[in-house]
Amino acid sequence: MTRILMVCLGNICRSPLAEGILKSKITSLNIQVDSAGTAAYHIGKQPDPRSVSVARKYDIDIGDQRARQFNVADFDRFDQIYVMDHSNYQNVIRLARHDNDKRKVKRILDHLQNSPYDEVPDPYYGGENGFEKVYQMLDRACNQLVKELQG
Ligand code: 4NP
Repeated sequence: MTRILMVCLGNICRSPLAEGILKSKITSLNIQVDSAGTAAYHIGKQPDPRSVSVARKYDIDIGDQRARQFNVADFDRFDQIYVMDHSNYQNVIRLARHDNDKRKVKRILDHLQNSPYDEVPDPYYGGENGFEKVYQMLDRACNQLVKELQG
């Protein structure tokens, strides 16, 4: 079983999309995907309506997800922890207890060769267009991830 955790700041915009997109591409029952945010602002809330709507456009339903906060036990519960940006990386690494925890944490766009970006930008304060851009970035990153996971 490979357990993957997608992490952003609020767990309402980017990581719920990353979770939904990756789940939609996975055919193996041996892969589990979840998401969390480093901040507590939105615990228990549904994903941002703009994330729900861009996901729906591509036939992915993320409406059942509820935000939760990343915590140190997630290092034990997950094998790979994918963060969206440098700030998420710092926030997660700060909680790591040892090198084995740290080794699990990667930036999701590090998976994309020839990508002009190394962060998935926070779309929260932007318009609808930002969510489409985030979707496309995550879709490409998840394609690469699935190849690595499923061979
Ligand atoms: P996310 O976006 O990290 O992609 O879920 C954000 C959601 C909420 C806030 C910031 C980013 N916020 O400041 O409330």
